[in-house]
Amino acid sequence: MLSNFIKISHLSKDEISSLIADAQDFKRSLKSSDVSGKTACLMFFENSTRTKISFEIAAKNLGMRVINFDNATSSINKGESLKETVENLYFIGIDVVIIRTSDDDLIEELRRQVAYPIKFINAGSGKTSHPSQALLDYFTMKERLIDLNDKKITIVGDIEHSRVAKSNIALLKNFGANIVVCAPEFFKPQSELEGATFEADLKLAIADADVVMGLRIQRERILQAYSEQEYIDNYRLSSQLLNEYAPNAILMHPGPVNRDIEITSELLDSRKGKIILEQARNGVFTRMAILNQLLGEIEL
Ligand code: CP
Repeated sequence: MLSNFIKISHLSKDEISSLIADAQDFKRSLKSSDVSGKTACLMFFENSTRTKISFEIAAKNLGMRVINFDNATSSINKGESLKETVENLYFIGIDVVIIRTSDDDLIEELRRQVAYPIKFINAGSGKTSHPSQALLDYFTMKERLIDLNDKKITIVGDIEHSRVAKSNIALLKNFGANIVVCAPEFFKPQSELEGATFEADLKLAIADADVVMGLRIQRERILQAYSEQEYIDNYRLSSQLLNEYAPNAILMHPGPVNRDIEITSELLDSRKGKIILEQARNGVFTRMAILNQLLGEIEL
């Protein structure tokens, strides 16, 4: 049984596979909820559309109640710590807090500090962790490729500031994928990413790839100078590039897309671009699986 859902590296290969199997069953309406009547609290301290709303729909599909925590009107503004807030939420009747934060370590620190058995889900933290995104991305890849062993997965863009890239690498390396990351110098990862190789040249990076994943330029996290024009000139994904170098590749992107910067409109609006919307849809089934395993009395 999952104890919390904070980092991909906390999950075993079997746990990941079990979550994917449940997500598949939820998508095919072959599985029912074990967590009806439980209560989730969404605590989003950063903006979100896909993750927040799909967690809410997922919880409601499972018959759960959902409370949206409003930081601006909460007693955090009277000086209450987040630890005390979460402990009080547990006694008020919250079973799980689903947190998005700009702080890489906050959720893990809270889990250590909070004295009561409330569950934690990481809905995206800092520039290091977005485990539910990695899981839904893996689910979407598996639907099309079945097995990722020896498949070439190229992740392109703002690798340094991307929690999506880091969590995807942490997950995909367990399943035998050949992971390539590609970025301009200003978005190159500052430290080595175990399980991935770096290639600065976009054409070489995507050559014969099975998956090409674009990333959002994380403007809110970038402290150093960078050139959007240089990015567009050398790293923007287009139909012409994919047709020439990776004709069979699946195009993915976690969203939101900076249209015509990371991906051209013509590619985004083409048939290949539609998988990005399927990723968003798969987010619901993946998050149903996470909530159901975390809060249900299920042995893996
Ligand atoms: N992919 C993703 O995390 O999107 P949101 O920021 O809209 O949740």
